[in-house]
Amino acid sequence: MGRGRTLKAVAPRPGGEALRTPRADRADTGGVSVDRDPARIAAMFGRLVPRYDLMNRVMTVGLDRRWRRLAAAEAVPLPGDRLLDVCCGTGDLTLALAERWPGCTVIGLDFTPGMVARARRKATARALPGPPPTFVEGDLLALPFADGEFAAVTVGWGVRNVPDLRRALAEMTRVTRPGGRVVCLESTRPPAGLGRRFHALWSERLVPLLGRVLAGDAAAYEYLPASVRDFPDAEGLAALMVAAGLERVRFRRLGLGAVALHVGVKPAPGDRTPVRRQA
Ligand SMILES: C[S@@+](CC[C@H](N)C(=O)[O-])C[C@H]1O[C@@H](n2cnc3c(N)ncnc32)[C@H](O)[C@@H]1O
Repeated sequence: MGRGRTLKAVAPRPGGEALRTPRADRADTGGVSVDRDPARIAAMFGRLVPRYDLMNRVMTVGLDRRWRRLAAAEAVPLPGDRLLDVCCGTGDLTLALAERWPGCTVIGLDFTPGMVARARRKATARALPGPPPTFVEGDLLALPFADGEFAAVTVGWGVRNVPDLRRALAEMTRVTRPGGRVVCLESTRPPAGLGRRFHALWSERLVPLLGRVLAGDAAAYEYLPASVRDFPDAEGLAALMVAAGLERVRFRRLGLGAVALHVGVKPAPGDRTPVRRQA
């Protein structure tokens, strides 16, 4: 992945447990306890559609586009391959895949109808170097695809919103072909230090304020930092990816450590590459 210096490879703990295990009573769902009821989550994102892209640009000072391009570059398919972007929202990561890999068939999936409709409109309006992506309504926790259909499955700021993180990772892994990749871009808690203090100020104070002023929905943007707090850290997410059956799992931190880009490979038959251990 990109420049090696920012990457970490993660070895599973015996039994594939998260490196920093969330509370034991939450461990079977991957460590989440904030209310992630799917109907509530879909209704919240449905309300956010009109201002969703604007909020992303403002909250990240425009860096979210670069981060999505980095995630898309990690798919590394062959011409003619199929790529899937789950929790696609308004389609920005799906479109980044279509721009980066014009020889591939790209599908975006989301369970919020308003998000899918907005994504379709954006794809129609965008001049792309290849065929436009198609967008479907569907649930990440029960993907409507066969095993091994995709060369890579991506997700951007999606897995933090599901009530069963292990199942989400298992589904993404299931529809990835052997040798293919699962790529995950997600908000995360920065390591202790200046980055974490800045992140706390930014996410706990500034983001809800921006949510109130720009999106008219402070509650949705209070959910964002709460859901990051109540989510495995980058090492924990990497360990859960290993537990889902991926290997060579690695991640890099972006945005002062507030965003993590994880990549894992689905083992191919006869692939005996050992998981690399952290130095
Ligand atoms: C924070 S947005 C991310 C959108 C987009 N990936 C991006 O990069 O901006 C999260 C999206 O995940 C979707 N989502 C949440 N849970 C889902 C599920 N179980 N199945 C499908 N989509 C889901 C929501 O509808 C929402 O559009």
